Amino acid sequence: AASVEHTFVVSQTKMTRLCKETLVTVVNGQLPGPTIEVREGDSVTVHVVNRSPYNITIHWHGVKQVRNCWADGVPMVTQCPIMPNKNFTYWFNVVGQEGTLWWHSHVPGLRATLHGAFIIRPRHGAASYPFPKPHREIPVIIGDWWEKDPAEVARNMTKSIFSSYASASTVNGLVGDLFNCSGVAKEGYVLDVEPGKTYLLRIINAGLFSEFYLKIAGHKFTVVAADANYVRPFTTEVIAIAPGETVDALLIADAHPGRYYMVGLPNQAPLPDTQTPEYATRGMVQYMVSQGPCSGTEVGCRGPSADVPIAPKMPDIHDTVTSFYFHSNLTSLQHHAHLLVQQRVDQRMFVVLGLGTICKQGHKFCKRGDSDEDILVATMNNVSFLPPTSKSLLEAHYYHTGRHGMTQDLPKMPPKLYNFTDEALIPFGPKEMRLEPTYKATLVRRFQQGAVVEIVFQSTAMLQGDSNPMHLHGHDMVVLAQGLGSYDPVKDGARYNYVNPPVKNTVLVPNLGWIAIRFVANNPGVWFMHCHYEFHLSMGMAAVFIVEDGPTMDTSLPPPPVNFPACGHGIDLMPK
Ligand code: C2O
Repeated sequence: AASVEHTFVVSQTKMTRLCKETLVTVVNGQLPGPTIEVREGDSVTVHVVNRSPYNITIHWHGVKQVRNCWADGVPMVTQCPIMPNKNFTYWFNVVGQEGTLWWHSHVPGLRATLHGAFIIRPRHGAASYPFPKPHREIPVIIGDWWEKDPAEVARNMTKSIFSSYASASTVNGLVGDLFNCSGVAKEGYVLDVEPGKTYLLRIINAGLFSEFYLKIAGHKFTVVAADANYVRPFTTEVIAIAPGETVDALLIADAHPGRYYMVGLPNQAPLPDTQTPEYATRGMVQYMVSQGPCSGTEVGCRGPSADVPIAPKMPDIHDTVTSFYFHSNLTSLQHHAHLLVQQRVDQRMFVVLGLGTICKQGHKFCKRGDSDEDILVATMNNVSFLPPTSKSLLEAHYYHTGRHGMTQDLPKMPPKLYNFTDEALIPFGPKEMRLEPTYKATLVRRFQQGAVVEIVFQSTAMLQGDSNPMHLHGHDMVVLAQGLGSYDPVKDGARYNYVNPPVKNTVLVPNLGWIAIRFVANNPGVWFMHCHYEFHLSMGMAAVFIVEDGPTMDTSLPPPPVNFPACGHGIDLMPK
């Protein structure tokens, strides 16, 4: 196994999109940031040099960090952030995982521009991909472009949801020609393909807010992996990908050699006025064809097709069914019988996702209609996550400074059950929303090492139209079932897939529905569990799982790395 080393210099630089220069925070001056490419079993060293004005961390999304929670990169959960003009070196091994993951800053808003692909190939000598070897591999990072400072957007989220829409969507950092301005033509991502060849697209949704539909006119995708776990291949015209998810798909250049648009459409369901189809991003798949008198096989004889590009027909912007079916089609390539044989479940949780309000004055509860009841928060079981401000939870846990900053266990029961009555389905708007008064707390839940945990995530009418991609750090989850409406333990529990459930690090809770997952809490440390939709995350839809040390050295968390960042007091996660 090799050791892969990178230096990430985080700084602010001006980039021009939409005919306008904007100051963005990026790694090594690039958007997307550098791709990290490893083989399974390699070790990774990344020296982060912070020349930005923000407190920074980098999270390796989906990397399990086995017994290495220290490198997980969640500010105030696993580490104090790297302050401006400070450095920190992340070190970790990549073991037992293959496929596409990604890295991003875990500071509110900043992942909009601080992100990149993390590609894990099979180790040398090992069996290769469980699908035909592609001619080329291409990261396709879907994201958004902000003319506003996304850190500022995150900070203001609780005040105005309606300002929290990006200026444009992007493929690999480029907005595309739907946003033509001042005659600037080439603002889109172009993938050159050779007729008949197969390409592996490593698709990542790095966007802050929206699930996307991705289509390429005239072509189909064969999905082969999701969240760095191989799936049973299936063919589809459209890929549905929520924030935080990754999908590996084969693209065969088998159409008439021409030019085909690749369109990413954000499908945030309601809010019809804030997102129009023009909000989509457009890249292009362009066939290289023989030019002039050459035969087309000689070097230098080929050039891009000049055909008029063809656009795909996209799903409706409010279509949530296509996403539901796409996600239902994911099944794992290997059978995960081990989880079944072990049909025991040690801990069950029912987690209701919602929105609520807290008092400005900080009273625990305030009455409806109180003048100070006006801060919107996002919740799990009616509690909004409060990050600690002086020390990370991981350090508090490791040094046994007690349950410092950890105020209570995640409630076992939801505060109330939701029925999706018409009354609950009120048009989205601050005045009409029926929000529960709630409070903030640093919620943690402790698991003994090896515990089998089942969680049902229930979305509510309060979240109509918001996507809820729930992401767990340090562990993969198996998805046993998903459905619409309210979860019914008897009826729905009976149709769990124990044969080939997909394995994911981010699971999309169906709109107005539920999803049931299991994981084995076998990685000692303090792990963030949260919604990957930035609006919900910044507003507190998060909790922390603590997995206790096991009885032996190799089931326990080793000491922190050298030069681990320190905090002092009053770290505000909302960057200045
Ligand atoms: Cu992709 Cu907690 O993050």
